[in-house]
Amino acid sequence: MSKTELLYEGKAKKIWKTEDKEFLISEFKDDLTAFNGEKKSSEEGKGALNNQISSALFKLLNEKGIPTHFVKMLDENNMLHKSCDVIKIEVIVRNIATGSLSKNLGIENGKVLPFTLVEFDYKNDELGDPKINDQHALILGLVQHQDELDKIRRVARQINEILKPYFFERGLKLVDFKLEFGKDKDGNIILIDELSPDNCRFWDVESGESLDKDRFRQGQGGLKLAYEQVLNRILNK
Ligand code: CDP
Repeated sequence: MSKTELLYEGKAKKIWKTEDKEFLISEFKDDLTAFNGEKKSSEEGKGALNNQISSALFKLLNEKGIPTHFVKMLDENNMLHKSCDVIKIEVIVRNIATGSLSKNLGIENGKVLPFTLVEFDYKNDELGDPKINDQHALILGLVQHQDELDKIRRVARQINEILKPYFFERGLKLVDFKLEFGKDKDGNIILIDELSPDNCRFWDVESGESLDKDRFRQGQGGLKLAYEQVLNRILNK
């Protein structure tokens, strides 16, 4: 399967049509953005690392019975996946308080939450991805039924229950992460987008060091080395 026409260019990926309308190709870019696109940079090799990490994690989830859009990794920067109608909700899953949760609610940075928190943000750059509740999602028509929101929340928790121990065994705490879902041609809700250090926070169990995009957000440097460590721990366990 090969690229025919550019469908969409986002901050971290280009999405291409293929000869088959049921399949798309995501091309992972080296571009880095943070704070809703206000901070920008680029890191050579970042796209290839995220493609490899996402492909490995989607494959793992597929094997564990979580439906995802993933079909296969084509080459360094390109992933073949199903075409879906995107549900415009960013699903944030949190095990440990940090980032906007600590800032907005005054929960101490690093506090382990008494239970996993699942939040919804409205995927809308112009509005700055505001936090929403179930009623907002229904009023906005982001989904049609409460059942769909319940399903998304249930699957998000299942994904966390797979990934949290998986990373802990590899010396990483899965602090929080963002998921996106879509509807495939049969109307099934499936996991889409990517799973990488661009949209997950990983803290090294020993040192507490961030091995994710926070290195860029906080201007720490060493981003590529950090992403390489995440990939190596996935591949070499
Ligand atoms: O990064 P920030 O503190 O602004 O947002 P957050 O709500 O604390 O982020 C929670 C998790 O979701 C982090 O792992 C982010 O990397 C991820 N996230 C994302 O990937 N894309 C967004 N638009 C918002 C959050």
